[in-house]
Amino acid sequence: MILAPSILAADWSDLRSVATQCRAGGARYIHVDVMDNHFVPNLTAGPVVVNGLRPVTELVLDIHLMVTNPGTLLKPFANAGTDNLTFHIEAESNPIGFVEKIHSEGLKAGVSLRPGTPVEKLWPVLPLVDLVLVMSVEPGFGGQEFMPAMLDRIRTIRERIGSGTNRPLISVDGGVKLGNAKEILLSGADILIVGSGIFHTPDPVETMRTFLNLQTQL
Ligand code: DX5
Ligand code: ZN
Repeated sequence: MILAPSILAADWSDLRSVATQCRAGGARYIHVDVMDNHFVPNLTAGPVVVNGLRPVTELVLDIHLMVTNPGTLLKPFANAGTDNLTFHIEAESNPIGFVEKIHSEGLKAGVSLRPGTPVEKLWPVLPLVDLVLVMSVEPGFGGQEFMPAMLDRIRTIRERIGSGTNRPLISVDGGVKLGNAKEILLSGADILIVGSGIFHTPDPVETMRTFLNLQTQL
């Protein structure tokens, strides 16, 4: 299991310390939510934030684009030091072409979908991507309730992917907490993206370690 703390819920006045906490807690990714106030009704970070984080962490910078026209942001995010770039299938008319472009920049490519988007929309692009990000809340805000119906979606994607060595990893984003993490992992998730479930707890580093310990209890 990979833990990807979502810094949306963290202390933006001190992202360097947030990155240090993520490392101390055993996280392998740092998840950065990019919102454009168009694809979703909220506005967050651009490449400048990735650029700021890059020199202060060796963790994988996992960028989640919740934007219209993701293609225009590929180069700026690649140049800023992005490792993984995930876009929404609803926002891209040529997902296969875009995945190829992400790969040509030397980045890992991820695809995501809103809870209401039919899962079959992923099938054409699935053999090409490195990551599938299952949204388990409506994208746009942290701190929402996990949608239990998404457990079935995780199982469906996992069955479709199979268990080959080169299969894409499945990440789950939205409402993930210590209380529901086990069932999400048992459904087939590889990566847990967690915002408020880490950063709104009294000791985020300890909470990250507790999340990672869950895998020994499955
Ligand atoms: C929501 C974002 C999530 C968000 C998750 O649109 O994609 O990454 O930070 O936050 P929590 O874990 O609080 O639901
Ligand atoms: Zn996200």
